[in-house]
Amino acid sequence: MHDFLADGIFNSNGELWRLQRKTASFEFNTKSIRSFIMDIVRREAVHSLLPLLHNATTTGEVLDLQDLLERFAFDNVCNLAFGYDPKSLDGTSEEGLKFFHAFDDATQIIVDRMVSIVPWKVKKLLKVRSEKRFREAQAIVQEMVSRFVRSTRKQDDLLSCFAENPTHSEELLRDIGINFMVAGRDTTPSALTWFFWILSSRPHIVEQILREIKSIRARTNNENEFFRIESLREMHYLHAALSESMRLYPPVPMLPRMANKDDVLPDGTSVRRGWVVTYSSYAMARLKSIWGEDCMEVKPERWLVDGVYQPTSPFKYPVFHGGPRVFLGKEMAYIQMKAVAACILERFELEVVEKRGERQISVTMRMKGGLPVRIRERMITTL
Ligand code: HEM
Repeated sequence: MHDFLADGIFNSNGELWRLQRKTASFEFNTKSIRSFIMDIVRREAVHSLLPLLHNATTTGEVLDLQDLLERFAFDNVCNLAFGYDPKSLDGTSEEGLKFFHAFDDATQIIVDRMVSIVPWKVKKLLKVRSEKRFREAQAIVQEMVSRFVRSTRKQDDLLSCFAENPTHSEELLRDIGINFMVAGRDTTPSALTWFFWILSSRPHIVEQILREIKSIRARTNNENEFFRIESLREMHYLHAALSESMRLYPPVPMLPRMANKDDVLPDGTSVRRGWVVTYSSYAMARLKSIWGEDCMEVKPERWLVDGVYQPTSPFKYPVFHGGPRVFLGKEMAYIQMKAVAACILERFELEVVEKRGERQISVTMRMKGGLPVRIRERMITTL
């Protein structure tokens, strides 16, 4: 257990494993959870994200797409976990914004602990500013989530599913809630930010996605409605383009595991109890021995056979991890990302005004300095 994480926004006793067992076992794939998640994405996209982008087409304002996607995901995950809308995207709730900034601050300070030269425990003793800020942010997050926990038994959200078990203490429920926020807030925005960055220099991929959307709309006789799950499932090319973008820019670029007993890896390497082994999906994507000579090229086609998406082994593509701890909400995450990507691409053209594309260490792989874009309404396409 890394103690900089144990002393995180969760609990102070560091029982992170207990928490992970609980949240990792969550059933993401029931029909009711899927439609609950889709309803939230639809509502947030139609009422907040799309109007905001539309507004920017008239003002000509440059927006940081990464920031917008992070706020969108924050609002989504809070609705999902707590049935609470912080409205961080349209900024109309003071309390919601405070919650958003506290969560952002707390997670970034925890990550900075990993790269700081001065050990964070020393900083804590010296009451350095970042550690003081951390305590304040932690208190705000814990206080808000505890409030949701106290009211959750009457509600219709994910936390209520866990609250049905009377052995779950208030503290455990609070930590499950925060764990969901950490896992859900940064991953899809990271994936989508790099996806839009990749598209900004590859118009042929955008055209292909638009062609696919158009043909699905024509087939389902559905011109204007927000996409239904069944339509999103039919978007094989978009699925492939997202998979390809996450291959090169995985939201979780490295994942450390600690051996809880002496072990031997399949190649014969010994691993002693307590050793940390880290694998990097970011590095694996760049290995010719895994992905071939063209591993550095962006090719959605490598995922398609006769236009149909073909998944690959999680041990070749460990973006969602593999084995017993594989992320079970993968399909739900794809549906969310496809809904957001398709509804933005269909309506708007995004021009990246500053090509940075540098990576920043965070809980996930963020884009340093954000992704500044200018937005125009998309002209009716003749594709
Ligand atoms: C592209 C999007 C996503 C990617 C690449 C991703 C990736 C992962 C990975 C690699 C793990 C395994 C972590 C581990 O065992 O250490 C994981 C676990 C998990 N993810 Fe995701 N995820 C994504 C989206 C989401 C979303 C949107 C949510 C929630 C709304 C979510 C909730 C969770 C939860 C609850 C766990 C279990 C946490 C735990 O074991 O502590 N993820 N995810």
